[in-house]
Amino acid sequence: MRSTTRLPALGLALLGTLGASAQSAAPASLTVQVNKPGAAVNKNMYGLFFEDINFAADGGLYPELVKNKSFEINPGLIGWRALQGAANLDAYAVRNEQGISQNNAHYLRLTTRNGAGGEAGIENEGFRGMGVKDGGEYTLSFYARRGAGDINGLTASLVGQRGESLGQVAVSGFTNEWKKYTAVVKATGTQNKAHLKLVLTGTGTVDLDVVSLYPKDTWNKRPNGLRTDLVQLLKDMKPGFLRFPGGCIVEGRTLSERYQWKETIGDVAARLPMINRWNMEFRHRSTPDYYQSFGLGFFEYFQLSEDIGAEPLPILNVGMACQYNSGELAPMGSASTKGGPNAGTAPHDHATDDPSLDVFIQDALDLIEFANGPATSPWGAKRAAMGHPAPFNLKMIGVGNEQWGPQYLERYIPFAKAVKAKYPGIDLVSSAGPSPDGELFDTASKRLGELKADYIDEHYYAKADWFRQNVGRYDKYARGGPKIFAGEYAAQSVNTGSENNKNTWDCAISEAAFMTGLERNADVVGMASYAPLFANVDAWQWTPDLIWFDNLNSYGSPSYYVQQLYSLNKGTKVLPVTMPGGAKNGADNLFASAVADEPTGEVVVKLVNYSATPRPVSISLAGAKGLGKTGRAQTLASADLQTQNSLKEPKKLAPQEATFAVKGSTLSYTLAPYSFTVLRVAGKR
Ligand code: AHR
Repeated sequence: MRSTTRLPALGLALLGTLGASAQSAAPASLTVQVNKPGAAVNKNMYGLFFEDINFAADGGLYPELVKNKSFEINPGLIGWRALQGAANLDAYAVRNEQGISQNNAHYLRLTTRNGAGGEAGIENEGFRGMGVKDGGEYTLSFYARRGAGDINGLTASLVGQRGESLGQVAVSGFTNEWKKYTAVVKATGTQNKAHLKLVLTGTGTVDLDVVSLYPKDTWNKRPNGLRTDLVQLLKDMKPGFLRFPGGCIVEGRTLSERYQWKETIGDVAARLPMINRWNMEFRHRSTPDYYQSFGLGFFEYFQLSEDIGAEPLPILNVGMACQYNSGELAPMGSASTKGGPNAGTAPHDHATDDPSLDVFIQDALDLIEFANGPATSPWGAKRAAMGHPAPFNLKMIGVGNEQWGPQYLERYIPFAKAVKAKYPGIDLVSSAGPSPDGELFDTASKRLGELKADYIDEHYYAKADWFRQNVGRYDKYARGGPKIFAGEYAAQSVNTGSENNKNTWDCAISEAAFMTGLERNADVVGMASYAPLFANVDAWQWTPDLIWFDNLNSYGSPSYYVQQLYSLNKGTKVLPVTMPGGAKNGADNLFASAVADEPTGEVVVKLVNYSATPRPVSISLAGAKGLGKTGRAQTLASADLQTQNSLKEPKKLAPQEATFAVKGSTLSYTLAPYSFTVLRVAGKR
């Protein structure tokens, strides 16, 4: 195996400024037509794709530490176990008479054994453990109701892996009515696999529900807020948009398992959990305990988008369950609706009526009102009641996720018509299916073009060389048609769906090479997002992913830094680039694109050297004026294409910055072996 040779910043600076004369090879000459700016780059060009896969929400971005806090998951004791194998409890069972609310009907009943010694109570394992930080404060809350006997309270403890206490708090005053209790536990140690222990005070019977342990340290210190390190990684990308909630999770394996946004808003304690469709999708990575609590629901999603400066892009179900699973279809029109989208909210029962397409359309219209409507409108009022009277300024929605075939087009047409009729200013994203070519893709693209779709969502998960070989993909697209949304893509080191895929530098640099093609074609490609976004190192189903984390730490993969460099250097106008000898972009494994950044007056050149040797380049900036004397280079480079980041070495491969001298209107720079370099230089026309 070759050694990892990421160049330190100084080395890169030296390599960058070595004149062509210091190299044996003659410099490759490129020209950037600074005086011929082309298409505008969409200011939201590079964004994020969020899906609750790989424990991205519960056990990830949504930092609730208790799994199955409301006992609504069927079977209701997932995540819980009785202390000492129930030696001191007669019974612990989920019951559903006289629960705390109609939605949250299930609760836990504990009955202690008379005269038994030791601790009677219950423990929660968290999401592959609980991450707690020394000195960190965690809000414990739960509902309790006392039954026969004298149970008056409980002691809640954070327990480490060796059984040691990491902080505890006692709560008392239970009555024979449901009441909410709140206390704060301060952690006395740092561990990422702690758990929560609840020990009862007294003997008898007690009912518990909605047991929550929530870090106080959340993004913007919000109650029910999000995990800070993960939000920071998102914000650091300056993302243009945030696609949510997926992904196949939008569709569900069956229609009754589809994502229903209306069930994800309002009181968090009343949100019913639902199976996560990724729980058993891959036999090699089965996670039967994977549910969606919806604590991170649509309100939190809009708020997150606002926090990180991204345009929200909700993807909505178009009356189709996942075509890789049941492919169940909602009947067209208003046939056989039994009560609408909020019907069927009995425990474990998420609106299992047979909704017709009209229900899905109405859901979309209502979502737009929830996001943008005045606080006096029915859905705008719900947003305002949750603490955001101002609109979220939603500008686009996706119609279906990764759908294909005539069934999709048949449903897309009335869906799009109804949304446009009521909200003509909302852009619609339509689907070209799961594959970037072939008959289904061609038919969908042609038809959506005829229908004058705003955006067509294309997906490509392919091997790394596909990305380099297809850098010219959008050069051939007709101009003036729908914009392209490269809505899900990632280079796979082995094969799509393989558990052996790794986030290697080979994958990331190939994506960087491909993205020069996106940038050069910014008149066609309006948005792009890598997928999937997050993965929990202990609970993933799909790899590769942009960001990896455990219960305490996180890191960006090399692909993360590629996405970040594009996003932070997206500029405002495409500048034409002529490759050496007039060759095609990508010839001889050299890839390039350029943009003008009008607000800063800089020229930004992106270069990928996919070769094992340093490559001197000479870049003529045609028509540039007022060139600075120095430029700034940001480089990702490793001669070892298998380089990966990890929790132990989170920044093994991360951008290095250097400055370089600029002489005349030609930039001389030497690209490191296997590198992605962004050069910025002042150069107003
Ligand atoms: O990103 C993982 C999955 O890949 C998405 O859920 C789906 O849209 C695609 O097939």
